Amino acid sequence: MTHEFSLAYAQGLDKADKLASFRDRFFIPQVNGQDAIYLCGNSLGLQPKSVLQHLQVELNDWAGLGVEGHVHGKNPWLYYHHFTQESLSRIVGANKKEVVAMGSLTANLHFLLVSFYQPKGKRTKILIENRPFPSDRYAIESQVRWHGLDPQAEIIEMKSREGEAFLRTEDILATIEQYKDELALVMFGGVHFYTGQLFDMARITAAAHAVGAFAGFDLAHASGNVELKLHDWNVDFACWCTYKYLNSGPGGVGGIFVHEMHHQNEMLPRLHGWWGHDEANRFKMEDRFVSMGTAEAWQLSNAPVVALAVHKASVEMFDEAGMQNIFAKGKQLSNYFLFCMQYLQAAGVPFDILTPTAESERGCQLSLSFHSQGRSIFDQLTRDGVIADWREPGVIRMAPVPMYNTFSDIFKVAELIKSSFENNR
Ligand SMILES: Cc1ncc(COP(=O)(O)O)c(C=O)c1O
Repeated sequence: MTHEFSLAYAQGLDKADKLASFRDRFFIPQVNGQDAIYLCGNSLGLQPKSVLQHLQVELNDWAGLGVEGHVHGKNPWLYYHHFTQESLSRIVGANKKEVVAMGSLTANLHFLLVSFYQPKGKRTKILIENRPFPSDRYAIESQVRWHGLDPQAEIIEMKSREGEAFLRTEDILATIEQYKDELALVMFGGVHFYTGQLFDMARITAAAHAVGAFAGFDLAHASGNVELKLHDWNVDFACWCTYKYLNSGPGGVGGIFVHEMHHQNEMLPRLHGWWGHDEANRFKMEDRFVSMGTAEAWQLSNAPVVALAVHKASVEMFDEAGMQNIFAKGKQLSNYFLFCMQYLQAAGVPFDILTPTAESERGCQLSLSFHSQGRSIFDQLTRDGVIADWREPGVIRMAPVPMYNTFSDIFKVAELIKSSFENNR
């Protein structure tokens, strides 16, 4: 599709946008008395206006019923984690039994590594992406040490080719093949937090399985952003946070996926708590642990109702908007954003796009490297009412998202980048 670099054109796309009405259902941060151009959904999604009402229901039940709210609340708290499972299954492409909202991302990653990183004999290594998010690296390194092994020897970190910002799928597959007898696990981000590269999770999983390794993904930057088919791809496990594209609030509840092929495998080690125990008999308080037999078996504690109420408010909007509409608009926004950035490059604004340009290899986020001018351009954009995300050295990450960003936001930010560059010259 050919695009145009003009406000009128962007406004035309906004008029035709099926999801346009959702923007009014979010609080848009204000800068200088106006709506900010908020491009930080990859860091913290905006607050749905319905959150307060969802919280109010639970606070009222707590106030009015006390402990009885567990059973007699409008949404009985004993089962609160069930209320988001169906929506989550649509968001990550799973069946309902394979997903549950629980805990927090790094803690969940540890729980899942307990199950899916089982070094044995020669098969002790973990393959990770280039420069993973530090928390993932720390978690993986500490798990390797927990097994009495040396992270330097056991963690294989992918490297992009000389002069290239992102990884080639063929190189990932070749590395899996190279270490085929030694790999215990392939553990990647679904979308790379820094470059915005969307990895080919289906092929990576198939290649990992072909050599006898597990495949797991941190979907912090993928869930709610790109179409996922975790069940069909046979992904072993995944975890994510909900405060980015899933708009469920700062430090919000995390989520996990465990493929059903592992649900009945009682040989798989797992850390246990009472919320992983068979729900029907949980309150018999018996000594022997009986697994839920679903992804819920990985739950330890009772459901964090306040955080889940926010999550529920948010995922209900995803259901209402429809995942296919969300993904289609996400692609449209990202393609228009890329077009505008390439237009600026052709007009002589000197910066690099670190994110792959192929549509199948990116989600909403573009990472732009402005080199030594990065900080001053970023600061100018901030003064002009753009909320984006800064990463050393010189990289600005921006992610227009389907439910509250417009095509006009993208055009305006492109114009601001252009004028900021001209002022900096
Ligand atoms: C890719 C990725 N992994 C892990 C984390 C850490 O998340 P948490 O602090 O919720 O454990 C983040 C946080 O932004 C992230 O982006």
